[in-house]
Amino acid sequence: MKDNCQREITYLRLSVTDLCNLRCRYCMPAEGVAKKLHSDICSVEELVEIAAAAADCGITRVRLTGGEPLVRRGILDICRGIAALPGVREVDMTTNGILLPELAGPLREAGVERLNVSLDTLRPDRYARLTRLGRLEDALAGLRAAEEAGFTGTKVNVVLMAGFNDDEIEDFVALTERYPLEVRFIELMPMGQADAGAYLPGDTVLARCPALAPAEPSGVARRWRLPGGRGLVGLIEPMSHRFCGGCDRIRVTADGRLKPCLHSNQEIPLRDLRGEELRQAIRAGIAAKPARHRMAEEGRSRTERNMNEIGG
Ligand code: 5AD
Ligand code: SF4
Repeated sequence: MKDNCQREITYLRLSVTDLCNLRCRYCMPAEGVAKKLHSDICSVEELVEIAAAAADCGITRVRLTGGEPLVRRGILDICRGIAALPGVREVDMTTNGILLPELAGPLREAGVERLNVSLDTLRPDRYARLTRLGRLEDALAGLRAAEEAGFTGTKVNVVLMAGFNDDEIEDFVALTERYPLEVRFIELMPMGQADAGAYLPGDTVLARCPALAPAEPSGVARRWRLPGGRGLVGLIEPMSHRFCGGCDRIRVTADGRLKPCLHSNQEIPLRDLRGEELRQAIRAGIAAKPARHRMAEEGRSRTERNMNEIGG
C-alpha cells in the first residue's frame, strides 16, 4: 500500500533477535545486551504471522535482520515459513557471515534468495578491534561459503568510518574487480553507540576511485562499476543524499514493534494481535511514516534504540 507521502511500501525488515555473536563498537555496548526473556521476543510462529499480515498489506520482499539472525534458534524455520507465504516474492538476510560456513547451504534450501554480509575492514587486527569478538578469516570463510552454496548477488556492507577504514576504500573497490560482489559503502548514522565524529560522506569513495563509471541505481543505492570489473560499487547515503523520498520500507523489532521510520522513536506494538487487528496495526504503521528523517538538522537520530535491536 501507499503511505501518506504516496510512497509504495513493499519492503519489510524483520529483526529476528537482538543478540549477536559480535560486539561491533558502533552498534553494541562492550558488555553486550541483557538477554531478554524468551517470552519477550517473538516466537517463530509470531514472526511468520507478522510477515503474512504484512504481505496482505502489500509487502513483497522481506529481509531478516538482527542482531545477528543466524544466532536465532529456529532461523531456518523462520526462513522457510516466510518464503512459503503467498505474496512474498523474496526473502533476503543481512548477516555478519560468521556462521555461514555451517548455514549457507541450509539457508538456500530454506528459500533465502540473497545475502548482505557486513564487513567493515579487510585487516585482521582491525576486524578484531572493531567487532571485539570476531576473526576476519571467519567472515571471509562465510563469504566463500555463500558463493559455494550458490548464492548470487551477494553484497558486502561497509560502514565508512574516518580514521578507521577510509584507507581501505580502494581495497574494497578492488574486490569488485575480481569477484561478482556488490560492495556497498554506507554512511555512518549518528545513533546508538555510533561516534558521529567518524562520519565520512559517501562522495569520499568517488574522489578516491576516479575510475568508477556510473551504473544503474538500485533502490536507495547509487551505483558504479570498475571498467571490466565483475562486481558493483554502491553508496548508501542517508546523511548526504537523504533518500527518504524513495523510502519503501517498514521495520519490525524482535520484540514485535513496528517502526515506521528507522530514525523516529514511534513504535507500534504488534504482539498479541491477530488477523484483521494485526493487519490494521501494520496499515497504521505504514500510514505513520514520516516524510523524512531530521538527522542533519538535529545531529542525531531520534531513535533510542541501538542498531542491534532494529537491524539497520
Ligand atoms: N550507521 C550506519 N550503518 C550502521 N550499521 C549498524 N550501525 C550503523 C550506523 N550507526 C550497519 C551494519 C550492518 C547494517 C545492518 O547496518 O554494519 O551492515
Ligand atoms: Fe525511510 Fe525513515 Fe530511513 Fe528516511 S529515515 S529512508 S523515511 S526509514
